[in-house]
Amino acid sequence: MTIIVTGGAGFIGSNFIFYMRRAHPDHRIVCLDKLTYAGNLSTLAPVMESPSFRFVKGDICDRDAVEKLFAEEKPDTVVNFAAESHVDRSIEDPGVFLQTNILGTQVLMDACVKFAVKRFHQVSTDEVYGDLPLDRPDLLFTELTPLHASSPYSASKASADLLVLAYHRTYGLPVTISRCSNNYGPYQFPEKLIPLMISNALNDKPLPVYGKGLNVRDWLYVEDHCKAVDLILQNGRVGEVYNIGGHNEMRNIDIVRLICKELGKSERLITYVTDRKGHDLRYAIDPSKIHAELGWLPETDFEAGIVKTIQWYLAHREWWEEIISGEYREYYARMYGER
Ligand code: NAD
Ligand code: TYD
Repeated sequence: MTIIVTGGAGFIGSNFIFYMRRAHPDHRIVCLDKLTYAGNLSTLAPVMESPSFRFVKGDICDRDAVEKLFAEEKPDTVVNFAAESHVDRSIEDPGVFLQTNILGTQVLMDACVKFAVKRFHQVSTDEVYGDLPLDRPDLLFTELTPLHASSPYSASKASADLLVLAYHRTYGLPVTISRCSNNYGPYQFPEKLIPLMISNALNDKPLPVYGKGLNVRDWLYVEDHCKAVDLILQNGRVGEVYNIGGHNEMRNIDIVRLICKELGKSERLITYVTDRKGHDLRYAIDPSKIHAELGWLPETDFEAGIVKTIQWYLAHREWWEEIISGEYREYYARMYGER
C-alpha cells in the first residue's frame, strides 16, 4: 500500500505521517510538499531515513511534477493536506490560496483519474460552512449545512470541496472529504492562535486578541483528527463528506487566559487589537455521522491536550524559535505592528 500525503511537512500532515507509521508500519508513505513558509523539513527528520518513507519537494500545482511522481510511485491512495491555511494571510493576499487550494486540488485529482488511484481524500475544514451565532448553542454544522464561506481561505476550501464531489460524479473518482474543526497540538506553526500565544507568552511579548476575544472555536487535538482520516480511508463511504469535531467549544479569550495560567504568566500580556475582517463568530461541529458510521470518538480531552501541547512547545523551543525569524518576522511586524 503506497499513500501520497501532500502537505506532510506542515502541522497536520506531519502528525498524520507519524500517526500512520505507528498505525500501519507496512504502508509506504510518500510526502509531496512545496515547503512554503509553513512547511518545515526538520519536522520530518525522524522518518527521513526510513526506507518506507520518501520526501519529494514539489508543488501540487505543477502538473508535470505530479504526474512524474504518480508514474514512479503508482499510489493506491492520495491524502491532500497541502494548502495555504491561514485566514489572516488569505485576507492580505488571496491569490495563492485560490492557486494552491483549488487548482492544486484539480491537478492532483487529474493525476488520480489518469493513474486510477483507488482513493483521493480531501482534507477540508468546518470553515466552509461559514459561522454560527453566539447565542444559539443548539445550532451545529452537519454535513448538510449549506456552504457559506466567509474568508478567501474558506471560500477556496469550499470551492475545492465542490470540485472534489464533481470529479466523483463526472469521472467516477473514488473520493472522500473530511471537514474538521480547529486543530491544536505539536508542530503547529506559531501564526495560529494557540502556538502564537504560547510562544509570545514565553517571550513575554503581548498576546494579541482580536476584538473582544469572544469568538468561539471548536478545538480538537491533532492526533484525533489523524485517526479520523485513517478511519475514513479504511471504512468511509466513497463520495461522502464526514465532519470531525469533539464538542469542545471555547472562547478565544478563555484559551489565552488558560495559556497564561499554565505558563505562570500575567494576563497583563493580553492586548486587545483590531478585529479580523469578516471574523467568523462561532464554529461548532456535529460529528454524529462519523461516530455512527465509523465508530470515531476523540480520545484526548482539551484539558489534557492543551497541557501536552504546552509541554511540547516548552520542550521544543528550538523548533519554533527557528521559525520566528526571516519571512515570519516580517509577516508578524506587518500583521500586528499597526493593529
Ligand atoms: P499548514 O499551513 O501547517 O501546512 C500546509 C503544508 O502544505 C505546508 O507544509 C506547506 O509547505 C504545504 N503546501 C502549501 N502549498 C503547497 C503546494 N502548492 N504544493 C505542495 N505543498 C504545499 O496547514 P495545516 O494546519 O497542517 O492544515 C493542513 C490541511 O488541513 C489544510 O488543507 C487545511 O485547510 C486543513 N485544516 C486545517 C485545520 C487547522 O486547524 N489547522 C482544521 C481543519 C482543516
Ligand atoms: P486561527 O488560529 O487563525 O484559526 P481560524 O481563524 O482558522 O479559526 O484563529 C483562531 C481564533 O483566534 C480566531 O477567532 C481568530 C483568533 N485570533 C486572535 O484573537 N489573535 C491572533 O493573533 C490570532 C492568530 C487569532
